[in-house]
Amino acid sequence: MIVAIDGPAASGKSTAAIGVAKALNITHIDTGAMYRAVTFGLIKNQINFKNVEAVEAYLNTLELKFSIKEKNTTLKLDNTDITEKIRSNKINKNVSEVSAIKIVREFMVKIQREMAKGTDCILEGRDIGTVVFPNADYKFFITANEKSRAERRLMDLVSVGDKKVSELDVVLDELRVRDYKDSMRDYSPLKKAEDALIIDTTHLTINKVVEKIVNIVNQKRTLV
Ligand code: CDP
Repeated sequence: MIVAIDGPAASGKSTAAIGVAKALNITHIDTGAMYRAVTFGLIKNQINFKNVEAVEAYLNTLELKFSIKEKNTTLKLDNTDITEKIRSNKINKNVSEVSAIKIVREFMVKIQREMAKGTDCILEGRDIGTVVFPNADYKFFITANEKSRAERRLMDLVSVGDKKVSELDVVLDELRVRDYKDSMRDYSPLKKAEDALIIDTTHLTINKVVEKIVNIVNQKRTLV
């Protein structure tokens, strides 16, 4: 079984996907974390994003590992734990440029399909229902109004010391820029799959969002 969750930045996809994975006892794959990890690696190795050959050579050396430890997913790149580092403002600012590179997308989609092979899982990202798994059993498009998304992201950034509480407008602008770039790129842009169900999380608690998705999955499952 494949559950696909797509949606714009800071819409609550990850929190929802983690909750659903737990409730249904299925694997959670955060594809955004994978694009963030590549961005982190390219910056660390001072590789120019525009140099396609250098980017490709880097991808071929990449060792990316997700592991579930005490119910938390950790991400290791070349044996270093980068789970927290990929959430920084620097990565937020650069990730859309990296994720728009064709070779990066091809590489990631291949890994994502391999990871999901033969397992029941929930994948979250921008192109899961449209490109990675167009035949997914369940598709959701999670969204929320801009203000709520910016408020949520500001909290995340304040907690890692990357922003001050007063910087809501800056965060809002950054989210807009990223969503614009993600929606306008040539290869697998952020887009709702035609058959995806929209869930607006603006006025919903996380428990409600999880409950909604779990109920839909369980209802359809019992009908089959
Ligand atoms: O958590 P947030 O919604 O801010 O972002 P994310 O899901 O961690 O994704 C970070 C970035 O990775 C996005 O802004 C996209 O540029 C890229 N991404 C993508 O292109 N395709 C995906 N399937 C997932 C993420």
